[in-house]
Parts: sequence; C-alpha cells; structure tokens
Amino acid sequence: MTLNLAESAGRLRSATHLVVVTGAGASAESGIPTFRDALSGHWAKYDPMQLATPQAFENNPALVSRWYDRRRRDALACQPNAGHAALVKIEQAYAARGARFTLLTQNVDRLHQRAGSRNVHELHGSLYRWRCTGCQHAALEDRPEPLEPYPPRCANCGGSRRPSVVWFGEMLPEDAVAAAEHALSTCDVYLSVGTSSVVYPVAGFAQTAQDAGAWCVEVNPEPTDLSGLFHQCLRGKAGDVLPELVDAALG
Ligand code: OAD
Repeated sequence: MTLNLAESAGRLRSATHLVVVTGAGASAESGIPTFRDALSGHWAKYDPMQLATPQAFENNPALVSRWYDRRRRDALACQPNAGHAALVKIEQAYAARGARFTLLTQNVDRLHQRAGSRNVHELHGSLYRWRCTGCQHAALEDRPEPLEPYPPRCANCGGSRRPSVVWFGEMLPEDAVAAAEHALSTCDVYLSVGTSSVVYPVAGFAQTAQDAGAWCVEVNPEPTDLSGLFHQCLRGKAGDVLPELVDAALG
C-alpha cells in the first residue's frame, strides 16, 4: 500500500494531545461484524429497534439479552488486530515523551483494553458489564459460558439483568462524555478510525476537534458523510493504515 502519510505523520510526531475515536471498523479485522455493512452488518440482518432500544428489552427481554450475550461471547473469542496494537504503541510513545493520548470508542467489545490501551473511554458502554434493571447491582461477565437463563437474573435481588450498553434513546455515560468533551477541546490531532460517524455524539466530534484547531484524519476504506471535514482521509483498513501511520510518526 502506498499512502501519503508524511503530513499526518509529521503532525502526530509533534502533537501534544492525540484524540482517537474508533467505531466498529476498528474491530472488523478481528472478525467482529460492523453495524452498517450492507451484507454482513448487524443492522443489515436485524432491526435495531427490535434489539437496541429500552422498549425492545421491555417487549422481549429474552431475545434482546440472548443477542447481546451472543455478541459478548463472540467478542471474547476474538483477538485484537494490528490496528489495536498500533494504537497501544503510539500511546506508549506519547507517555514516554510526556504527550497526552485519549481513546474514545463506540465499541463495546473491549478489544482496545485487551490489546493494552490504557486511557480508553467507552462511549457506548460495555458488553461485559451487566446490571440489574431493579436494584442496579452490576457485575463483570467475562467468562465464555452463556449467561442463561435469558434474561439473566440478578444475584442480589433476582431481577432481570441487561447489558450496560447504550441503546438508542438512552444517555451516554456521563464520565465518558465529559472526558470526550475535555479531550476534543484540547487536542491538536484528531484521528477517526472505522466509524461511519452517523451516530451522535461522535457525528459531531470532527467539527468540534476542527474548531479547536486540530489536524483531523479519517482512516476508513470507504468515504463517509463527514469525509469532507477531514484534512486527510487515509483510505484503507485500520489494520493496514494504523501500523504504517504510527511507524511513520515514530520512526
Ligand atoms: P458502522 O457499521 O456504522 O460503520 C463502520 C465503519 O467502518 C464504516 O464506515 C466502514 O466503511 C468502516 N470499516 C469497515 N471495515 C474497516 C476496516 N477494516 N478498517 C477501518 N474501517 C473499516 O459502525 P459505527 O460507526 O461504529 O450503536 O456505528 C456507530 C454506532 O451505531 C454503534 O456504536 C452502534 C451502531 O448502531 C448502538 O448500537 C447504539
């Protein structure tokens, strides 16, 4: 692959605060489906209103919890890819020279953390944290066994448990939103990786970063509705582009 990385690599070399935003495309090469791919995407096969809303859970908690538990167990069986590793590498290099690195992810698969990323904020929650819809007791579920019965029961009060992911119509975790707002207002490079950028608040992040004066780069094999906002679009897969970009920046 030949990409013109020089300008973006130079910006990364001298940046004081890099903000990376990731979406499902960052995990695609690990074998996790995206949402909007026309053939393999979750939303090509299923109606999000039947699976990813509070009403869907109310109407059919068994179906919804089974689907999320399937995704949890599938993600657990996947491994981080070369793109995840490149982000770990640049975070470590930034730490060594006293620069800041913030990773904001819409992914709920925890692959960034498993790869070794440290400063990660999960904007859409996690497949691995399940909480009681009654007493709110939350527990980490990282064993490969199914969480049957569906919906899983709370060990504390016997109530129904749901995944701590953000569904359409729900608020994002306050701490993640606050971290994102602060990071976007102080970054000098903004890197968007593997997201269609159609879901808010991420859909607004590139503009906020640009308003803050950041150099904005999109990594995606396909153009997105927001591509025009970026200073550079690197067309390719995250697992190919990120290692090359990071090596060029650190080399
Ligand atoms: P999408 O499925 O909307 O977009 C995935 C993006 O990744 C697309 O733009 C692809 O072109 C790109 N892509 C595919 N393979 C890639 C690769 N190997 N490397 C880099 N990019 C690649 O997924 P998101 O943008 O993450 O929310 O979707 C955002 C939110 O919408 C999700 O968090 C989810 C979904 O509905 C909820 O469920 C609430």
